[in-house]
Amino acid sequence: MIFWRVKPLNQILETAEKKSLKRQLGALQLTLLGIGAVIGTGIFVLTAEAGQKAGPGMMLAFVIAAVVCALAALAYAELAAMVPVSGSAYTYTYGVLGELVAWIVGWALGLEYGIGAAVVCVGWSGYMNGLLKANDIALPEFLRTGYFAGGGFDLLAFLIGLAVTVLLVIGTSKSARVNSVLVAIKIVALTVFIFLAIPAVKSSNFEPFLPGGWGNPLGGAGVLGAAASIFFAYVGFDAVSTAAEETKNPNRNIPIGLIGSLTVCTIFYLLVGYGAAGSVGAQPMLGANGLPLDPGTPAMAAACAGSEALVCSKEPLAHVMRLLGHNRIGDWIGIAAILALPSVILMMMFGQTRIFFTMSRDGLLPDALSKVHPRFHTPHVITILTGIVVSVCAALFPVGKLADTSNSGTLLAFAMVSIGVLILRKQQPDRARPFRTPFAWIVCPLAVAGCALLFVNLSMTAKVVFITWAAIGLVLYRLYGYRRSQLANQNA
Ligand code: ALA
Repeated sequence: MIFWRVKPLNQILETAEKKSLKRQLGALQLTLLGIGAVIGTGIFVLTAEAGQKAGPGMMLAFVIAAVVCALAALAYAELAAMVPVSGSAYTYTYGVLGELVAWIVGWALGLEYGIGAAVVCVGWSGYMNGLLKANDIALPEFLRTGYFAGGGFDLLAFLIGLAVTVLLVIGTSKSARVNSVLVAIKIVALTVFIFLAIPAVKSSNFEPFLPGGWGNPLGGAGVLGAAASIFFAYVGFDAVSTAAEETKNPNRNIPIGLIGSLTVCTIFYLLVGYGAAGSVGAQPMLGANGLPLDPGTPAMAAACAGSEALVCSKEPLAHVMRLLGHNRIGDWIGIAAILALPSVILMMMFGQTRIFFTMSRDGLLPDALSKVHPRFHTPHVITILTGIVVSVCAALFPVGKLADTSNSGTLLAFAMVSIGVLILRKQQPDRARPFRTPFAWIVCPLAVAGCALLFVNLSMTAKVVFITWAAIGLVLYRLYGYRRSQLANQNA
């Protein structure tokens, strides 16, 4: 019953065939594309959040999140190579599970990309504020932290959100050359960090290794809670699958690009996590009950006042360098983050606007959202709306809670894609598959189970926001999309 209004895959593919792109991307370019989209606030900022939840055991969190992502990436690759059109998981679901599930996935992707952009804005602001402070031009504390994180209004997070919105409205898009430069900047910054932090590692800093335990039934704590948050650090690799149509020999290169970029990022993340926790310690701030405080809460902000602990820092990698006596290098790592993070915000906001744009074109959201600007040829209405919501969220909410909320949408989309692969294998076994998920009947169920495990371990706030967002979405669908759907009207 819920699998109604399935959009025929052939109809979806017609769109792609009309605009056939030149196949020019190879394995290396794809891997760079993936790394460019993946390395961002997750490693540069959420390392502190993961430390607060898991202590030095955050390294295990990096591994768990990487495994879930790798499983989902294998499933993603099959659908991406088969249905290489815009809209990613939303479009795949429309073609396999039908309109209602596609709506839920599209709506959840809106949460992933929109709130994800806000996460990176807050991360950027943390580094910018740190750099200003290190050079004695600090903003007042009230303007450095969001209201719900124990401060007032995070001005710089708000402004970077608006600046990226303007760039998107006037039509700045991703350029391969700029991407390569930014990837190089990020890789150099992380490499320098690793080379300076690892020699300073002391084994005593790993004791106790799991001060927050594995987790608790409500989620948001311990190694699993840290894995659910740090999952954000890996998001973005799907950028590789969206380039399926432009890839030479996709059967070979897409999986190399996906798995290659994930592997490179995982190695960097583990070394950075090891260096950060081992050199300066990553023990959490404890509450009166002896358990780690919930990061991003006013209680945590109060405990962190005046503290030099890694888990309190909003620019943890620069902070570690400064604690180790490398002040200048700390500044340079901050500058690398400041230069590179806006492109991640751009990618996330771009993703958000294009998903809602596609949904609007399909008649599931009002036409006004897919209006294209006469001069800039960009979907300015949805871009401006998205930009305002992103900037306001970034100005008010704590980075970790935003990351968890974004992850809730991503986890749903990944699980749906994995289920979609299996359904399609049954329904249309003979359809051409340029890439086949290896051991699909093991990999896809494991991916779904991994997504479910991480979802359960998200913070309660994120789960409540997710359910509220989904409920609003269903009401909107019933009131609007259900009746206005292009597909329904074309079949009527
Ligand atoms: N993975 C990206 C980041 O960490 C979204 O910023």
